[in-house]
Amino acid sequence: MIGRSVGITGIGAYVPERVLTNAELERMVETSDEWIRTRTGIQERRIAAPTEATSDLAVPAARQALAAAGIEPEALDVVITATMTPDRLWPSAASTIQGRLGATRAAAFDVNAACSGFVYALALGTHMVGTGFAHKVLIIGADAVSKFLDWTDRNICVLFGDGAGAVVLEPVEEGEEGMVSFFLGSDGARGETMYLPAGGSRRPPSHETLDQGLHAPLMDGYQTFEFATFAIMDAIERVLKKTPYRIEDVDLIVPHQANIRIIKTAARWLNVPTERFSITIDRYGNTVAASIPLCLYEEVHAGRLKKGDLVLLTSFGAGLTWAGALLRWTYEPASSSRPSSG
Ligand code: ACO
Repeated sequence: MIGRSVGITGIGAYVPERVLTNAELERMVETSDEWIRTRTGIQERRIAAPTEATSDLAVPAARQALAAAGIEPEALDVVITATMTPDRLWPSAASTIQGRLGATRAAAFDVNAACSGFVYALALGTHMVGTGFAHKVLIIGADAVSKFLDWTDRNICVLFGDGAGAVVLEPVEEGEEGMVSFFLGSDGARGETMYLPAGGSRRPPSHETLDQGLHAPLMDGYQTFEFATFAIMDAIERVLKKTPYRIEDVDLIVPHQANIRIIKTAARWLNVPTERFSITIDRYGNTVAASIPLCLYEEVHAGRLKKGDLVLLTSFGAGLTWAGALLRWTYEPASSSRPSSG
């Protein structure tokens, strides 16, 4: 069990100003707006500026989440950043962000579980607060994956976008349910289904790795798709099984945004109308660890996610990893707005 009740008390989001449309991609690689829209559901995505790194997206999202929760950075005990694209290999993105926020009392570290990273980090933060180890934890999901793409590879470059989302976790009233249950999974034996071949300690950067184009991700799209449709359902089943709730009780399902067809397949299998799924892939593409908090932010500010709603998160990504969470929504915004930008 999680221990004392833990809930989300603030949320923020940030996307870069630059919009990259399918029409522009048509001029960059051999693709079409029609192919991208029908095969993925993506119409446009945000791309970080040349001077913008992951922490530049994360800091405004974090500041907004802190303001929404009404707490100062000095009050934070822990900053956890879910990312696979930190500003540098080390120090962690979380340490950079903690320094820039002035969260002087906080511990800071990254979680790299690719697109599942936000749910992994949420599970960690929840248990830290639930056990009383920490009282105020900032969870950020942020990625600037555009920096690592091969913009001549149509198989991959059309799929992704950049962004950041952040939430604050705190103890909530005993009567409030807050975070209910989690599932975290990994199948590392299938790690090469999608991966970044070079730049780590196995193949450090060299002229050779650059010449061979090994600093851009490789992905078996079909295998990833197959895994995703299994993982999204498996995480939902496992999360619900630990609780008295059934899928009918859930007000909003927030899936990782990788492909609209994956989401529609899940809706069909669950026999749940797609209207109960959060969908932002048309505007942002796959923003990796930012995908789920960006959805939550948009749903809250569109008035579709309200205090007391039961929310199911489900994600999958490189690793391979997959994860799920069930939570009772505990945050109410003072005013409504879009994610801040540029
Ligand atoms: N424009 C036009 N044609 C394209 C493009 C493109 N951008 N990309 C691929 N094609 C072509 C292929 O070359 C292929 O051509 P061929 O038949 O002549 O060989 C054809 O389209 C069909 O390719 P498929 O792979 O069968 O297309 P599919 O309908 O499966 O869609 C896609 C491909 C979108 C990649 C899909 O498989 C998918 O979404 N997979 C999951 C991706 C995913 O979830 N990634 C998450 C990564 S998460 C993380 O943690 C990083």
